[in-house]
Amino acid sequence: MAEQGARMIVTDLNEAAARACAAAIGPTAVSMRLDVRQEADWERVVQATLAEFGALHVMVNNAGVTGFDAAVDPTIPVGPQDPEHATLETWRAVHATNLDGVFLGCKHAIRAMRANTPRGELGLRGSVINISSRSGVVGIPRAVAYASSKAAVRNHSKSVAL
Ligand SMILES: NC(=O)c1ccc[n+]([C@@H]2O[C@H](COP(=O)([O-])OP(=O)(O)OC[C@H]3O[C@@H](n4cnc5c(N)ncnc54)[C@H](O)[C@@H]3O)[C@@H](O)[C@H]2O)c1
Repeated sequence: MAEQGARMIVTDLNEAAARACAAAIGPTAVSMRLDVRQEADWERVVQATLAEFGALHVMVNNAGVTGFDAAVDPTIPVGPQDPEHATLETWRAVHATNLDGVFLGCKHAIRAMRANTPRGELGLRGSVINISSRSGVVGIPRAVAYASSKAAVRNHSKSVAL
């Protein structure tokens, strides 16, 4: 995208990783910390995007956790993710990042994109790209929260598109 002229804000809970990614892209990219679970963070990042670039045209909801891999934030609980042993705490934690994060990202991106000039026959004002998974299509017996959250992302994306 940078090669084709896009300017971008790279975000992550892991600030160092976001900074390194932006540096690798080059001077057209900057980084910011974003916890996708926090609505105030989304408001801050979208405001910064508008201040920096004047408009938001593309937003990618990519942050995701499995619930069983060690998370970047040590306060995010992890544990077994089979349906018998997954805890309510890890179930909620996976959905907080994978689903609440996508919901909040869509909400604030759409609000910002409303201001864009409509383009093309469909009058599109921007693109929102939500990263689901094949785990959102088929059952994954040892990743129940992940599979549930990714299935929800698929259908939330369809509702957003309408
Ligand atoms: N790796 C795969 O095989 C695979 C397959 C299908 C879908 N996906 C999806 O693709 C996306 C990226 O996966 P990946 O393999 O690159 O994972 P990854 O773990 O390398 O990257 C995910 C990133 O999300 C960040 N993150 C986690 N919680 C966050 C939060 N609350 N706020 C902001 N950032 C947060 C992490 O710091 C990390 O940098 C995920 O949504 C994942 O579910 C991955």
